[in-house]
Amino acid sequence: MAKIYRGTKGNLQFLAQRLRAGELVAVPSETVYGLAADALSASACRKIFRAKGRPPSDPLIVHVGSVGQAGSVAELSDAARQLMRKFWPGPLTMVLPKKPAVPEVVTSGQPSVAIRMPAHPLFLKLLAETGTPLAAPSANPFGYVSPTTAQHVQDGLGKRIKYILEGGASEVGVESTIVDLRDPRRPRLLRPGKITKADLERVLGVKVELVPTPDSTAAMLAPGMMLRHYSPHTPVIAHRKLSLKRALSGDAREAWVFLTRPAAAKAAKNIFGWAETSSSRQVAHNLFALLRKLDGQSWKNIHVEYAQRGGLGDAINDRLTRAAAKTGTRAPHKGRGKGLSI
Ligand code: TXA
Ligand code: MG
Repeated sequence: MAKIYRGTKGNLQFLAQRLRAGELVAVPSETVYGLAADALSASACRKIFRAKGRPPSDPLIVHVGSVGQAGSVAELSDAARQLMRKFWPGPLTMVLPKKPAVPEVVTSGQPSVAIRMPAHPLFLKLLAETGTPLAAPSANPFGYVSPTTAQHVQDGLGKRIKYILEGGASEVGVESTIVDLRDPRRPRLLRPGKITKADLERVLGVKVELVPTPDSTAAMLAPGMMLRHYSPHTPVIAHRKLSLKRALSGDAREAWVFLTRPAAAKAAKNIFGWAETSSSRQVAHNLFALLRKLDGQSWKNIHVEYAQRGGLGDAINDRLTRAAAKTGTRAPHKGRGKGLSI
């Protein structure tokens, strides 16, 4: 079993030394927990793919502790620098032309690299202590729900890794926004997150194209973005709006997750709420932890209600659509019908 380390100075020094020696360390971030390795070591990064069961065609995000370090792994355009000044450290990943220092295994052979400076204080301390950029995808077995606590990492990868850094529950709760800046005049949003399209447009002063995920363009631009992802083992059925009447009168072996738990549900054991209020900030924070918890119980189906549209709600709904997708890269409207359309 992996050991969970508190973020003391001594532990951070030890974990940094393990990273420099080419080992894997799971680290907390403000979005989700990541599985980190020295981004400049091809053999260390290969271990990430093995531990996660991740196909080599799905490239890794490189985390940096300074803008100088970002410049050592990627070509920084003016547009990239503007976004860094505004949103780093924070939940924004940029895809940029890569520098030769980054091994091919990290970028799946592409000439571009995805980079981000995380905001979690312990991740930043570990980056400073290690002194090298750290490649880190989410710390879950490939395709499963991302982890937002050290215990989630232990549950999913505890038998395959040795070190987990404890950093509390991830504040944001969904993965970073990914913006493609390979062509600085034509920025594209590859994955919605806390930093929205409007946030990016305000800073860049140009329109940001929304890559309609999931489709074949998205799959080509961001290879890991297949439709079925972030999926519990229990079937998930997503709805624009849930009906309490239907939930109360239906099969008691099905779970129903409303935006907020209706008071009229009284003691019904199969009725849940994403959060105390319908604020997308709170829903995102609890999203993956509740999906994991319900997946660990023996429900026949998990019915979930989409978040309010716009801002972080769009990122939540993207993850719910993916959690509910049955297979492959089928377009949502051809899936289960009503439940999948947002
Ligand atoms: O919030 C996050 O971004 C978390 C934390 C740990 O930082 N990381 C994360 O990594 O979500 P992951 O592996 O689950 O998602 C990485 C995705 C890939 O699936 C791919 O879509 C995109 O980032 N990506 C990475 N490198 C890329 C590249 N060179 N070109 C295009 N897309 C890339
Ligand atoms: Mg992931």
